[in-house]
Amino acid sequence: MQIIEAENYEDMSRIAGQIIAREINSKPDTALGLATGSTPLGLYTELVKLYEEKRLSFQHTITFNLDEYVGLPASDSNSYHYFMKKHFFQYIDLKEENRHIPNGMAENLQEECKKYERLIEKSGGIDLQILGIGGNGHIGFNEPGTPFSAQTHIICLDQSTREANARFFPTMEQVPAKAITVGIETIMRSKQIILLISGKTKYNAYKRLLDGEITETFPASILHKHDNCTVIVDKETVC
Ligand code: F6R
Repeated sequence: MQIIEAENYEDMSRIAGQIIAREINSKPDTALGLATGSTPLGLYTELVKLYEEKRLSFQHTITFNLDEYVGLPASDSNSYHYFMKKHFFQYIDLKEENRHIPNGMAENLQEECKKYERLIEKSGGIDLQILGIGGNGHIGFNEPGTPFSAQTHIICLDQSTREANARFFPTMEQVPAKAITVGIETIMRSKQIILLISGKTKYNAYKRLLDGEITETFPASILHKHDNCTVIVDKETVC
């Protein structure tokens, strides 16, 4: 696991943007794994900037988002479908048919999970996966206790995750209890992984990640076993 200490949030986002741009410029049909949440917002701004400066095109790129809440339609401003469009997709030339996000409204959620996993497989697997980390060590929405062998599945969100995400919802009760998430095994099959960590609230998670014990009670710890994983952490987290 390689660790890059960025000066600040902007620097973290810029470094990640450059790695992604390099990857897409050398392999235009890159399958990119995407995350939502506050952490990658600066990265999306950076990628849009590179696109506008004509230094990057997503014309042949395929994307797979990590997760989506169960029960929220794409039109809901808290869905990850809505998030991706608002913060990234509307500004770039990524084709609609190449954007993939699990459907949390599917009638048969188990079937949706299998379908999503097959789609990733069919594209040849994820080339470059972007991850954030939860305070409890979750990656995607793989909460502590999720088997490392899990593929795309339905997860009951931890109370701590619901509380952390309550900032986006009018009331705590409206925070969904379940989500579809790409599994840990699927994430680990990615050829390259970039984990972004930013801010003081992630200090404990970062420290535990560095401690190195690989355990299902701290999902991100599995990343130590990946042979091409880069952690980009900002100074605010480290200090
Ligand atoms: C979101 C995701 C989550 C977030 C994590 C951190 O797609 O997969 O693992 O990356 O909850 O969220 P923020 O960045 O909001 O602290």
